[in-house]
Order: sequence, then C-alpha cells, then structure tokens
Amino acid sequence: KRLERDFTGYNKGIVRLQPDRWFFAKAYTKFADKIYNMQWKPSDVCIMTYPKCGTTWMQEIIWTMRNNPDLDNPMASAPLYGRSPFLEMDFFLFGTAASNLPEHPDPNDPLIKDFKKKCPGKKIEDGLMLQLTDVLPEPRTIKTHLNFDLLSPQILDNAKVVFVARNPKDTIVSYHHHSRLIRGHGYTGTFEEFVKYFLADDLQFSPYWLMLRQAWERRSHPNMHLVFFEDFKADIKGELRKLDTFIGTGLSDKQIDNVAEYTSFKSMKERGVQEASSNDSFWVKEVLEKDGGFMRKGTAGDWKNKFTPELEKLVDDWTQKHLGDIGLSFKYSL
Ligand code: A3P
Repeated sequence: KRLERDFTGYNKGIVRLQPDRWFFAKAYTKFADKIYNMQWKPSDVCIMTYPKCGTTWMQEIIWTMRNNPDLDNPMASAPLYGRSPFLEMDFFLFGTAASNLPEHPDPNDPLIKDFKKKCPGKKIEDGLMLQLTDVLPEPRTIKTHLNFDLLSPQILDNAKVVFVARNPKDTIVSYHHHSRLIRGHGYTGTFEEFVKYFLADDLQFSPYWLMLRQAWERRSHPNMHLVFFEDFKADIKGELRKLDTFIGTGLSDKQIDNVAEYTSFKSMKERGVQEASSNDSFWVKEVLEKDGGFMRKGTAGDWKNKFTPELEKLVDDWTQKHLGDIGLSFKYSL
C-alpha cells in the first residue's frame, strides 16, 4: 500500500517473488517462464545490471564496438531498444501506469510499428520485446536487469555476460531521479524515503546486494566480465581494450578512439541516446527533460550533493552487512 501510494506508476500491481527476493511489476510473472527458457546463442552478449549502473552506456559501447567502430553505419541512429533490446521490457509495457497496451495500442508508436514490421502476424501481448529479441540478427547485444536466478542456468555456457556495477550511493541518486522521471514509476516521495526503499530492497529489481553477490561469485568464469562504472569514467580506453578482448571485436587503436569519443556522455546526450525511443509516446515523453533528463550527469561522486551524513551511514552499514564478507569494494569518487 505504501509503495503504491509513493510510486503512482505501480497501480497495476507489484509482486515479490520470495520474501526477500526480486520485486517487480506483476506482469513479470506472465513472461517469467519465457525469459527463463530463452535460448542464448554463442554470439550473444548479455549486459546485466541493476538499474542506473550504466546499462545504456554499455549498450551503446558494445553495439558500437560490434557494428559501428568506423562510425559509418547508418543503423547507428536507430533507437537503442531496436539495436539492443531490453529483455524484460514487456512487463513494464503491460505492468505499469505507463502502459496503454494492449488495451489501446497506438499504431503510430515507433515501437509498435517496428514490431509489426519485424514480427508479422505475431501478437503484442505474447511479448513485444521478447519476440523482437527472437528475430534480432546476430550478433545480439541484449540488456537485462534480471539476475542469474531468473535467466537460463546455461547462460554462461552459451553466451557472454557483461555485468556493470556502480557504487550504491550514486546508483541511489540516479535511481531516485529516474523514478521521478519515468511515468511507469511515478515516484512522489522524498529522497530520504527513497533511500529507505532501496535499503529495504523495496525497489524494482532489488535486492542490488544479492545481484552483486551472484555476479561476484561468477566473476572468474571465462564468459563473465564484471566491470565498474567508475573504472569506465576513470580510464575509458583501458576498459574498452579489456572489453574488446572479452567480446572478441579485435578493434584497432583508431577504432577504440572512435568508440570512446562516440559513447562519451556529451556525445550520447547530444544524440539523445536513452533507454526508450526519443519520440516514445507512452512511457517517458513529457517528463524526460526534467532535471537533466535521462542523461542526467554521468559522473562518479554526485551522491555527495544529496546525502546527509545520517543517510550515508545507513548505506555504509547496508554495504557492510550484505557485501562486507566478499571483498568487493566500490569507488565513491574518482
Ligand atoms: P546519472 O543519473 O548519475 O547521470 P542506466 O543506463 O543503467 O539507466 O544508467 C543511467 C546512468 O548512466 C545515468 O547516471 C546516466 O547519466 C549515466 N550515463 C549514461 N551514459 C553515460 C555516458 N556515456 N557516460 C557516463 N555516464 C553515462
């Protein structure tokens, strides 16, 4: 009840899969088995993140490395969701206030048009993004906020996973902004209350700590690449080089320079790269520009402008309690 009051976008119901685990819009349950049973391909790269850890940045980086390292591919200006689909996006479409589907599909929405063209004869309500992912040509670069628990147990045998982590304080600040921005969350509470929702694992895709622990356990798997947002900020070319080795793109120094430049915060903001289509009609539209929009600041350490010492201590205690024993440490500034 408290959640539905403070998150006006969750008016179609929310569900927690187990008492302490994974918290989603109810519509997730409709697609959970399809997602779990999805066939991963050897050329797939799955970008796995908790929200606001640098997902979009990594999608644009990997797609560019694989498809546009010379910056001459006209497809590069297509909306990101069409080039790098968001695997579980269907449950947002069907499960939050942002949705006007399937009751009132807008035939002019670019996402619907794309679906009709690429998946003729298929039904939107059977999973729009899932079916678009099925027909996406290889190599596929797929985004998910789902944890290993909810994906095929064979994912690391069949595909590569890039997991992007970010320090929890900047992640909270960014997630708070996002939750106010996106109609499907519709957050109306204070920042302080938001921190408490995060700490209680009461945000969609929480618990973050559990996601981190499960990624950390797999960090030495040859098909797993665990990276940090702050490291990409500190040394983009060094990190791109490691990524190049991991995904096997074999880029030249010039191409690495191209990717670094093209995927810089400034360049992505100017180009309007964001998780939804830029003229999306049903989930971000008029609120997207508020307080910097989706591409807000893109820095490490902005949390210092938002956190009181008391809130900071709560997050430090949370980090120590849930992650203190595994040797994972965060960078809180550059
Ligand atoms: P801020 O809100 O701190 O600015 P996600 O894509 O996982 O939702 O993450 C969004 C966060 O990544 C936002 O953080 C956004 O500004 C930042 N971001 C996106 N593209 C970026 C880039 N090219 N460089 C740095 N940060 C970027």
